[in-house]
Amino acid sequence: MNVLGIETSCDETGIAIYSAGKGIIAERLYSQIELHRAYGGVVPELASRDHIRRTLPMIDEILRDSNMVAKDIDAIAYTAGPGLIGALLVGASVAKSLALAWGVPSIGIHHMEGHLVAALLAEDAPEYPFIALLVSGGHTQLMACQRAHHYQLLGESQDDAAGEAFDKVAKMLGLSYPGGPAIAKIAVQGTPGRFKFPRPMTNKPGLNFSFSGLKTFTLNTVNDLRGQSGRDLSSQEKADIAFAFQDAVVDTIRIKCERAMEQTGLDRLILAGGVSANIELRARLKQSVQKHHGQVFYPPLNLCTDNGAMIAYAGYLRLQHGHQESLSIEVRPRWPMSELNESELNESELNESELNESELNEHQTK
Ligand code: KG4
Ligand code: ZN
Repeated sequence: MNVLGIETSCDETGIAIYSAGKGIIAERLYSQIELHRAYGGVVPELASRDHIRRTLPMIDEILRDSNMVAKDIDAIAYTAGPGLIGALLVGASVAKSLALAWGVPSIGIHHMEGHLVAALLAEDAPEYPFIALLVSGGHTQLMACQRAHHYQLLGESQDDAAGEAFDKVAKMLGLSYPGGPAIAKIAVQGTPGRFKFPRPMTNKPGLNFSFSGLKTFTLNTVNDLRGQSGRDLSSQEKADIAFAFQDAVVDTIRIKCERAMEQTGLDRLILAGGVSANIELRARLKQSVQKHHGQVFYPPLNLCTDNGAMIAYAGYLRLQHGHQESLSIEVRPRWPMSELNESELNESELNESELNESELNEHQTK
């Protein structure tokens, strides 16, 4: 079975083919970073227009790359949400139209489920159950995953997502977008201990996060250094701030992950989403989880940020479970992951109706 994956939720057009038994056989990614750079963030209308320009030509290219033609594709998966509505609609319309023309099923994927299953594409993929730490530009969530397609939210950010905080702090330091890789790069030159930033929400119990106070703390540090004259920071000062900020984010996430593992008794942790590309985060979590005799897993580095491969694979997994959808084009810019737990709902509804039926039978025989 060959599944074509289409990702267009934000500023990357990602197209890939997942082939059963072989894995990802072709993938292409087009990043719009240059298009949005001058604006310091993603401009939704420009993003949608660029997805329109890229999606179909990239599908042609990917078929050529894999020596395939349309009739070799058995299903089409696309990101149905969360994300920018116009950008999502481009992927959804292309996927649905091609599926209709080619006579194959299409399936809408939750973007964060895509990120999560990217970790299952790694060579040493974990078995269920596990805890998933999903850290991207829009989400920071800890999930308990007892089985496939079942998500129990343990905690999430009350304000900025981890990636968003990296992006905003990068802007304060005059670094380019996206901020995560830019901060990670200069943090290597930072002086440990020069600044000590807070670890928000770690001295109270609970698994929620908050990064907006840390962002303000960073801004105050920057302003203190700039002083009344408003001078520019030296590159060493920027590196020291980047180090302290990254250290605080990573340490906060480590504390919450350890807590989640203790609380649930689960000893496997998977990391996914753009921020899971952060080398310091990967190393620190590995060290801490191993100390507690657990195991940590992450996606291959090229599959941490948005891509089409994760959507193709998530589509394959859902189709294997018999998931289907109608032909209407619907996207969900906001979409809590817990709403994916449909199968459990149906199962319990089923049990309930079975129960009512047997109660009824019992009643009738009396
Ligand atoms: O998952 P993703 O590609 O898009 C969303 O779904 O949001 O994540 C993008 C986010 C950005 O905020 C970016 O700054 C962050 O991931 N990011 C990183 C790193 N690489 C990307 N954050 C920290 N360290 C990195 N190496
Ligand atoms: Zn993403």
